[in-house]
Amino acid sequence: MQSFDPRHFALVPAAGSGARMGAALPKQYLPLLGRPLIHHALATLCAVPGIERVFVVLSVDDAEWARHDWRVLGPRLEPLFCGGPTRADSVLAGLRAISAEVRATDWVLVHDAARPCLARWHVEKLMRELAHDDVGGLLATPLADTLKRADEHARVAATVARDSLWRAQTPQMFRYVMLRRALESVHGVTDEASAIEAAGLRPRLIEGDAANIKVTWPFDMCLAEWILRHRGEGDGKEEKIP
Ligand code: CTP
Ligand code: MG
Repeated sequence: MQSFDPRHFALVPAAGSGARMGAALPKQYLPLLGRPLIHHALATLCAVPGIERVFVVLSVDDAEWARHDWRVLGPRLEPLFCGGPTRADSVLAGLRAISAEVRATDWVLVHDAARPCLARWHVEKLMRELAHDDVGGLLATPLADTLKRADEHARVAATVARDSLWRAQTPQMFRYVMLRRALESVHGVTDEASAIEAAGLRPRLIEGDAANIKVTWPFDMCLAEWILRHRGEGDGKEEKIP
């Protein structure tokens, strides 16, 4: 029997409406440093040599994608107009749409379109550290704040020990067939790792950094712009994004 080295594919869910942002356009298309917000993460993913293709899951009636010129990102980028009502539905629809192109054991890196500050080293570290992992995993950061659980009157009912708590980010990287089966078996999950956990497996946490924020509220746009402008200053890890 022929055996293949697993390849890496990126899948970027971008079919949300950005309700919390409250803008006229879905947040993935809001201008950020002169480009649509989603352009920044796509540019990072398209710049990683080990990623074969970068698939973007858009809503079925997305009219905005075609208004922009994506050719600068190269031929590996491919839009899929198959998003669903929730993020998990969009990811699953994307996985189904690429089934002819991807083998069961290939890795899929799922990354939120709403995380524009993804850096190349984030992606490369994830790929490197999970290369021989049986399950896969996700970028995450250890929690710095002390956590409080509230009662119904917004009074502190308990302090939650933060010792082993992490904030989940994306990309989240799992084998194609494992991820597809996991998402087909559970409902209501907000990330891929939760689906894998529900299947009884333990995804690995790979430490990224706090710069990989998810743009959710209007203030996050200011933060994202600041992070992209100052990229490479101080951490010595990343060149500025052109
Ligand atoms: N997403 C998606 N399909 C959906 C919902 C979300 O592909 N039906 C994508 C978003 O486009 C985003 C990512 O999943 O890139 C993370 O979701 P979130 O930050 O919640 O984005 P929105 O759902 O667009 O925002 P909101 O929840 O404020 O409406
Ligand atoms: Mg949402």
